[in-house]
Parts: sequence; structure tokens; C-alpha cells
Amino acid sequence: MKTKRTILTRVLPLAALATAIAVSGVHAADTAKAADTGDKPAFAPLPDAKEVKQARADLGRYLFFDTRLSGDTATSCSTCHDPAKGWSDGQQLSNGYTSISYFRNAPSLFNAAFRNFYMWDGRLDGSDQGAVVRDMLTEAHTMNMDSRLAQERLKQVPEYAAMFETAFGGDPYGGKIYGAIGEYIKTIRTENAPFDKFLKGDKKALGADAKRGMDLFAGKAGCISCHNGATLSDGKRHALGVPDNPELATNAERQISMLRHFSTMGTPNYMNLRTDVGAYVVSKDKADIGKFATPSLWDVGQTAPYMHSGVFASLAAVVDFYDAGGGDGPNKSGLLKPLGLSKKEKADLVAFLTSLTGDAPKEKAPELPAYKLRELGKN
Ligand code: HEC
Ligand code: HEC
Repeated sequence: MKTKRTILTRVLPLAALATAIAVSGVHAADTAKAADTGDKPAFAPLPDAKEVKQARADLGRYLFFDTRLSGDTATSCSTCHDPAKGWSDGQQLSNGYTSISYFRNAPSLFNAAFRNFYMWDGRLDGSDQGAVVRDMLTEAHTMNMDSRLAQERLKQVPEYAAMFETAFGGDPYGGKIYGAIGEYIKTIRTENAPFDKFLKGDKKALGADAKRGMDLFAGKAGCISCHNGATLSDGKRHALGVPDNPELATNAERQISMLRHFSTMGTPNYMNLRTDVGAYVVSKDKADIGKFATPSLWDVGQTAPYMHSGVFASLAAVVDFYDAGGGDGPNKSGLLKPLGLSKKEKADLVAFLTSLTGDAPKEKAPELPAYKLRELGKN
């Protein structure tokens, strides 16, 4: 029976998975609810690596680590997305650009080429890496970089000029800078996650506890109604009632960066807001207050702390939150209910979540080429 279900989960849509699980006796009511998500596959392996233009990705790798791409030359992408810290910064809330304190957690970049959305409020499309790089580089909160200044700086590094010539033809230029780093992001891919191997047919890749956790995830715990498909995300936004980080109420700089974000997004009456309202600032629809984009769950074993506000330090704490039926707040999803999980069931769910974690690619900051003044007449 177990083996049969494994094969089914790999190829069949959610409705069929619901039947398979119902047959095996796991909470029929929950699985019927899960079936509402339609014909999307319930579980699917991590997609194959995206095709990468190697010369661009090689260049993008240098740029990812180069602080000369920030306004005051103190910050690089890797400052906040550090390979040694799971391509994040290990903190609840991101520091932000020099002397700014950002108001949200910095997400990991593991498998970032496979997102439905970028940003916790889902304000950017997950299929456009160049757009998210442009945002990170030019935003006052992250790298505060003027793209003309970036262009002139890079032109004074002969190695970069040569790499741009090879990768794109021509000199460093805004769109090419975004494109090169975007291409590098596609290479940040994990491998051999036990659950991925399991879905690809290796029955022994999951321990008994992780298998029980998988059944809970797809059944009684109802996680699969939002975390499904190859990205383990439904590509929607939901309000779970995740608490704000307490610092939002006590730290003026965090609040300033939040209100500045709301203001930039044209949020109505934003000076009356003091909590992170999430997707509301994107849609301006009050029904979206408190909603955040469902994140991918691949690699969650190495990306603590969790949630947009970084308030949960461990996967066990996340599972306790769901077991309690989520938190409080406006527009809370009807899909969250107290789960009544036993201690053992919670541990099984954590084992399953841990099995979504693969081997991180090995990466070390490259040695960066130095400035060398460009000859007159060549700019
Ligand atoms: C000062 C810290 C900081 C720096 C520097 C920074 N980021 Fe980020 N990054 C963040 C934070 C914080 C978010 C989430 C913002 C939000 O949701 O409001 C984020 C989000 C992202 C995302 C979306 C991930 C997802 O799953 O939604 C990508 C991709 C990304 N950054 C790539 C980069 C790249 C590439 C660079 C360099 C060009 C960079 N970041 C520089 C802090 C930083
Ligand atoms: C109603 C849809 C929904 C359901 C059901 C749901 N999730 Fe989530 N999940 C989300 C959203 C949305 C977030 C981000 C919320 C935020 O940051 O405020 C999230 C975040 C997470 C995170 C943190 C990821 C990170 O990178 O920080 C984990 C882990 C997680 N969910 C696991 C689960 C598990 C386990 C279950 C079942 C017990 C579950 N989810 C059920 C929508 C859902």
C-alpha cells in the first residue's frame, strides 16, 4: 500500500492523491478539503536546473560578492544572502543597507529560480530574476545603488569590462548587470534532498518518521492545501496570523523602513499603519491585509529563523504554531484549524520538513579584480 501510494503521489493530481490517502484511512474530510486545489500535482520533484548562460553566470558570481555595487561600497548581495548562512543572514530581521534596519527577514536564495513570487508580500514575479536583482541593487533599503554609478565603477575594472564583453558584448550597463546576477541566482541549487530522491523513485530515501510526516502533511495537518506542487507553494497569498516581530513596535528604524516601503508602494493612509500588512500594499485591497506569499519549503532545514517576521527559531516552533491553528489577525485563512497533533506526530512532521533539505552548493567568495583607471577616450 505504501509503495503504491508513493507512485501515485508522483504522477497524480491532488484529487487523486486525496483518494489514495482516503483509501489508506487518513482523515477523509481533510483530504477532501485538500482536493479543492484542483488538478495541480500534490507533490512533484524539484524541477531540473534551468538552462544557464555560463559566461553571464560566471560574471554574476563576481558581482554577487562585490561591495562596489552598493552606494557606499560597504554591502554586497552576499552580506545578506551569505552562502555560509544558507544564503541568508541567520537573523530574524535583515539589517538593511548601512545605517538602515529593515523590517522583514532576508529569505534564503536556495533554489530561488523556482519561486512563484519574490518577496514576502509577493510583489515581484518569481520567474523574473533580473527584476528582483534590480530591486535589490537600487532600493534604498538594500544596496542604494545608482545604476549609472554602478556602470561607471565597473567600467574602471578591466577584468569586468572583458567579462561583460564576452558575456553580453559591449560595456557594463544596468540591464546587463541585473541579467548577470540573475543568471548566477539560477545556479544556487541544492541536490539530493531525501524527499526529492524519494519522489524520483528511491524508496529508501525517507525514514519511517519522515514518511509518517509526509502522510500528516498531505492529510490530517492539511499543509498540502497551500504547500503543493514542485515549488511546494500554491502561488497564492494567505493570512496565517504570524505575529509581527516585536522590534517593529520598539525600534524606530525598523518602523521607518516599513513605512517607507508602504509609502513607496502607494499604500492608502499608510501613516495609520503600524503592523506589517503584507500583500495589502501590493493590491490595496483590504481583503489582503495580513496576507503573505506561500513560500517554497525546499531546504527549510537550513534556513531558520522562519516567516516574514523571523519570529520562529525552529521548525518545531513552526509546527507548534500550526498545531495551535495559527495566530490571530485580519482575513485569517479558513484552512487553519487547531490540529490536535500528538508529540510524536509533531516530531514526524519536523522529520518530513527536514527531508526537504538538500546538499548546499559549495561556494566561497571569489577574489575580486581591482580598479585600474581606464584610458582616456575608452569610456
Ligand atoms: C541589506 C540586505 C540585503 C541585500 C544587500 C540584498 N538582499 Fe536580497 N533580500 C533581502 C530582504 C530583506 C529580502 C526580502 C524583502 C521583502 O520581502 O520585503 C530579500 C529578497 C531577495 C530575493 C527574493 C527571495 C524570495 O524568495 O522571495 C532575492 C532573489 C534576492 N533578495 C536576491 C538578492 C541579490 C541578487 C542581491 C544583490 C544584488 C540582494 N538580494 C541583496 C535582503 C538583502
Ligand atoms: C493557508 C495556507 C497554508 C497552510 C495550510 C500551511 N501553510 Fe505554511 N506557510 C504559508 C504562508 C502564507 C507562509 C508564510 C507566512 C508568513 O511569513 O507570514 C508559510 C510559511 C511556512 C513555513 C516557513 C517557511 C520559511 O521559509 O520561513 C513553514 C516551515 C511552513 N509554512 C510549513 C507548513 C506546515 C508544516 C504546514 C502544515 C502543518 C503548513 N505550512 C500549512 C501558508 C500555509
